[in-house]
Order: sequence, then C-alpha cells, then structure tokens
Amino acid sequence: MPRVVVRLPGRTCPIDIGSGNSDSLGERLRRVSSSSRGLIVADARAWRCHGGRLQAGLGRAGRGLAVVTVLPGERSKSLGQLERLYGALLRHEVGRDGLVVAVGGGVVGDLAGLAAAGWHRGIDLVMVPTTLLAQVDSAVGGKTAVNFGGVKNVIGAFHQPRFVLSDVGLLSTLADRDYRAGLAEVVKYGMIADAAFFARLERGVDRLLARDPALLVPVVTRCSRIKAAIVGRDEREAGERITLNFGHTLGHALEAAARGRLRHGEAVALGMRGAARLAEGLGWMTRSDRNRLESLLDRLGLPAAVRLAQPGVVIAKLKYDKKVRNRQPRFVLTRGVGSASVAPPINASRIRAVLADLIEA
Ligand code: GLY
Repeated sequence: MPRVVVRLPGRTCPIDIGSGNSDSLGERLRRVSSSSRGLIVADARAWRCHGGRLQAGLGRAGRGLAVVTVLPGERSKSLGQLERLYGALLRHEVGRDGLVVAVGGGVVGDLAGLAAAGWHRGIDLVMVPTTLLAQVDSAVGGKTAVNFGGVKNVIGAFHQPRFVLSDVGLLSTLADRDYRAGLAEVVKYGMIADAAFFARLERGVDRLLARDPALLVPVVTRCSRIKAAIVGRDEREAGERITLNFGHTLGHALEAAARGRLRHGEAVALGMRGAARLAEGLGWMTRSDRNRLESLLDRLGLPAAVRLAQPGVVIAKLKYDKKVRNRQPRFVLTRGVGSASVAPPINASRIRAVLADLIEA
C-alpha cells in the first residue's frame, strides 16, 4: 500500500493511500494513539454512506469515540459549529491525550482540524478524507480553518494530523459533480509541478471518470507526494506553498460571488482557465499549452463559465485574497505545464477582461 510522508522538523505525518484500507483504521489508530477517547467528526452524508464500515474498521479502537455529524456545505465552517464541537469535547471529557477523527471532505477536515488544534492547545488529529478534493489537497498539509464575517478561512491554525488514511473506495458514493470538482485539484498538481503526470491524466480521462481504483490510487499518491514535498519545505506558506494556490485567486472570488452555486473545485477550474489566459498574455504560456489545460478540463466535465447576476462583485472579492499586497491581487501562474510561480502585478483591465470571459451575465 503506498505511503507518502510529510516530513517536518521534529514531526512526520504519514499518508496511507489504498482501496479498501479504511477497513484497518482501528489497527492504524492503535499504533499512534494510546487513548481512544475522543470524537469522530463526520460529514452527515459521508457517515450515512460509510459510517457502518468505518465503525467496523475501527473495531475496539472506536469504543471511546463519540460521533458528531456536521451538515455538508461551506456554511458548516463557522464559529457556531466550532463551538458545538468544543461542547461535545467537553461533554465527553476528552482530555489532552484524546483525539479527533475527521471523516469527510474539506469542510469537515478544516472544522474538525481547528477543533483539535484548539482543544487543550492541541490534541491528536486523524484525517479520513472521503472526497477526492480532500484526499489530494485539504487533508494533507495541516491547514485548518473556519470562515468568519464573509471571509473564507480567516480564523485558523496549522495543525498536522498524526496520520491521514485515504481510501479511494470511499469515493464510489460521491455525487458525480463533487467527484469531477475534485479532479480540478488533481489537474492543478500536473500544471504546477509535474508535466509527465499531466500527460498521464490526459491519457487516463475515461478511467478517471470511471473512478477506476487502479488509476485512482497512483493519482492520489502522486498528488499527495507533490503536496507533501512542498509542505515539507514550506509548512507555513512563507514562499513555495503559495504555488498550491494556482487557480485559487480568481477561483475563490468567483466561488464567493456565486454564493454556493459553484463547488470549490469548479471555481478552481475556472480560476485555472483564467490564470492560463493571464499567463499567455505575459508570454509565460503558449497558446497550445493553454489549450491543453482547457481541453483536459473540458473532457473532465469542468465548467468554462459561470452565470452571475452581479459580475462586478467578483472584482470586489479579489481584495480578500491572502496574496494581496499593497491592495493589488497577485497571481500564481504557470510557465508552460509543470512549473509555477508568483507573477508580477497584472493590469486591472486585463484581469477584468479575463473575468468577463469566465462569467455569463
Ligand atoms: N490548499 C492549499 C494548501 O494547503 O496550501
């Protein structure tokens, strides 16, 4: 079974990837945690689909774990839900040696991760990501957060999990739209770091869409390995980690303006299309490389435009991007396929023109 390790000073975080490997969750847990007292924080839908199997996989290690479910959707990443989790940790008398097991996608991982980061100044966290997006991105690297005042991820902490268990078998029950949205983050890794991987995705579209575990295991492994290496060099996002933000500058702004009508991955797909057009304008990408990206996103069924009633809102949302300096948005752009860096400031009219092509009024 593939294992990827995030190596940080004085700590490591293993990521086990397989198909059906959640059956051994209890055994895996016993190897890292002396206490089995804590909370399972689970996405309500994921728990309906997989809770029975995960409880069986936990076996005796699950006896001291109370289950709290969280409604799917970005609105659950709130201080209110965080307080609810702290209430549950208090009620179940979870001490400093306790743990939180997050079962779900990015929303649950971020929320449960922040609960674990704050409880007694930090207790053990285990991630069992149940979406493709979480397996390749949000469950890896230790970022946790909730949204506040309409600003995404503005209250958060870095808190590395003791381990991540990625079982691609759990992806079989994902809604088609959610699964495809996760593929956008997969494409991102090819674009920012690995041209050969990008070409493998181009060849494997049918098998990817069929959720073939024989392809998904190496794909999740490759994405996790790329992210683990970047996080190992730059955990706190002082530099290189920002390249993981490719497609996210325009993507986050479009996602916020669409008010829940775009999945995160769909917004990232739009953001990557926009970023590629900006890169082409700067001479960083050829037309043919941009076409390769757009054609792969098309074949994966990812959107090329979004309908927005108030397109002007998107520009206003850009000011909340974490990369803003001197009130100017900054973009991670790719140089061809397989390498990325932060671009020099881009003219506001150019940004507006690119956005106009991504928005249907
Ligand atoms: N999702 C981007 C990061 O973890 O840095």
